[in-house]
Amino acid sequence: MSNLNNLTAKEMSPLKSLDEWEEDVLKRYPDPETIATSKETTEYRNYEDPQRDTVREFYRLNHEFQTYEFVKEKRANYLQYNKKQMPVWEAFNFLNQLVDDSDPDTDLDQFQHLLQTSEAIRADGHPDWMVLAGLMHDMGKVLCLFGEPQWAVVGDTFPVGCAHSDKIVYPEFFAVNPDSQDERYNTKYGVYEPNCGLDNVLMSWGHDEYVYDMMKNYLPEPALYMLRYHSFYSQHRENSYNHLMNEHDHEMFKWVNLFNPYDLYSKNPTPPDWQKMRGYYEDLVSKYLPETLKF
Ligand SMILES: [Fe+2]
Ligand SMILES: [Fe+2]
Repeated sequence: MSNLNNLTAKEMSPLKSLDEWEEDVLKRYPDPETIATSKETTEYRNYEDPQRDTVREFYRLNHEFQTYEFVKEKRANYLQYNKKQMPVWEAFNFLNQLVDDSDPDTDLDQFQHLLQTSEAIRADGHPDWMVLAGLMHDMGKVLCLFGEPQWAVVGDTFPVGCAHSDKIVYPEFFAVNPDSQDERYNTKYGVYEPNCGLDNVLMSWGHDEYVYDMMKNYLPEPALYMLRYHSFYSQHRENSYNHLMNEHDHEMFKWVNLFNPYDLYSKNPTPPDWQKMRGYYEDLVSKYLPETLKF
């Protein structure tokens, strides 16, 4: 077992880039619209892919260290917003300092992914606050720039403080999570009441919860659900935490489900023409968000 206070560089960053996690999600949940025609479908099934090992190692660390205590500690630290303050547009530049070393020629930067997501939402005529949710949804990845290990920034999120669903990717790695041996946390409901509502549930720490909290005073509730639960695949794809959700969560998860394909399937090697859309996004950001964002 590794020591949380003494992580090696490999334990901080098992993935060559954060995108490796998302590419793996895409293999698990391929786009239904292209699955029949895509040549890559067979590649998706290739279990010999060396990338699988880094993704496995990433989940091993994620599942070992994301405990109830760990989450509370990270929340107490980051939700004070005493790290940095910058205008929204500068924050995108800051986020873009996250560069991938895997394939610098073909990978688009973080801002291009955000823009492709928001543009796909806009093209389908959804409300402007959903477009803005698309634009902001991965802003929480700046956690990496504050020195957080990859597995505390990205990866599928899941409730902590109760039993881990076997529908979470690589469930066997939870065996070494200390919460799995702790009777306060290892029962079906753990510290929670049946159908208590997700508002009362702590999720594993990462970019989703951070960006949700950052935006919670500025965007309407469906947008906040999209931000907060966009990596909660064991629920929005597998429905394995219905026992914690209430009616209102189910209503709101219709929006989370609507959002997910825009995040997963909007990636395109051609960057959008930013100059053409700049005016629209400047107006959108100033309609909802304050001039500066706190981190
Ligand atoms: Fe994300
Ligand atoms: Fe994303």
